[in-house]
Amino acid sequence: MHFETRAIHSGAEPDGETGAVAAPIHLSTTFERRADDGTPRHGYSYIRDHNPTQTRLEEALAAIDSAAAALAFSSGMAAATALLQSLPAGAHVVVPDDCYYGVRNLAVDFFPRWGMSATFVDMADLEATRRAMRAETKAIWAESPSNPLMKIADLAALARIAHDGGAMLVVDGTFATPALQRPIELGADAVLHSTTKYLGGHSDVHGGSAAFARRDDYVAAVEHARKITGGVASPFNSWLVLRGIRSLSARMRVHCDNSMAVAAFLAAHPRVEAVHYPGLPSHPGHEIARRQMSAFGGMMSFRVRGGRDEALAVAAKTKVFIRATSLGGIESLIEHRASSEGPTSRTPANLLRMSIGLEHPEDLIDDLRQALE
Ligand SMILES: Cc1ncc(COP(=O)(O)O)c(C=O)c1O
Repeated sequence: MHFETRAIHSGAEPDGETGAVAAPIHLSTTFERRADDGTPRHGYSYIRDHNPTQTRLEEALAAIDSAAAALAFSSGMAAATALLQSLPAGAHVVVPDDCYYGVRNLAVDFFPRWGMSATFVDMADLEATRRAMRAETKAIWAESPSNPLMKIADLAALARIAHDGGAMLVVDGTFATPALQRPIELGADAVLHSTTKYLGGHSDVHGGSAAFARRDDYVAAVEHARKITGGVASPFNSWLVLRGIRSLSARMRVHCDNSMAVAAFLAAHPRVEAVHYPGLPSHPGHEIARRQMSAFGGMMSFRVRGGRDEALAVAAKTKVFIRATSLGGIESLIEHRASSEGPTSRTPANLLRMSIGLEHPEDLIDDLRQALE
């Protein structure tokens, strides 16, 4: 079935007891066991292991990512942590030089404590990525488009490099969403999403997803990490993400159309030094993005001529865009990314990142025009 149909009908069987069409939210933390042998009556035991609303969400997460299995988490970072902690002892991971700063911090602050190591490379440079592989490399961690520079990595080529080296390819697909890009279909072994973003879609729920090409020992290890460390998705948050998934493809179409219009406006503006949006033919990753994405997404960043102060002044003048971090909601957001990332940031000081929402594109362009005056 097509993506749109899978997104609406997976994990969506009417409730067996009541016939309710909308998924029930089961808040129970504990579940009854049989009198005769003490086993769980319906397969559920305790909320941190599994819970029924999360099970429905996991069915949907697997279906939309063309995956054999998926696990729902309390946050994108909980999913990332479980995926990385489940690699073998001594694992080396190749990580993009531009990636979500939380993942970067995980590699820098925590890998040494876990006996792991990382090499940071520009993954648009496939030869550099191949050179970074070592005998003990267990994963290439890719992010495409990347946060915040919107770099594009060739996921099919990275899968080949990873597999040639006996490693996995794990892709953070948060910016693209499964509506636009499905890394498992391109050869990736696992895909991560912060469901806090487009899958939730309304800036009101925190969650993460890990989806897998095969149901194997690695899935079992990640599930074990989730159960023991506790990063499980709550029933209510699972329900909100499930609800968001139902309208994902329709929302993404508007996010993408609005973003193309805003990017074209910014690219022609004299106060803009550079626009980072893979939908622009001038973007260095445009051709690869055309191959591996069905459209270019709702995220972009741009550099204001001048420096930090000029960029902050533009963000300060917006009236429709809200100055806030995060992304993927219905409302447009703008942020001075280096300020959000803090002292360890490597993001250019004149860069503003935007999450383009579902407002009318002319209102967004008018707002940026007056802010850039
Ligand atoms: C690309 C990307 N990956 C992972 C995360 C982490 O997700 P969460 O905030 O849900 O833990 C984020 C959050 O902004 C992100 O943008």
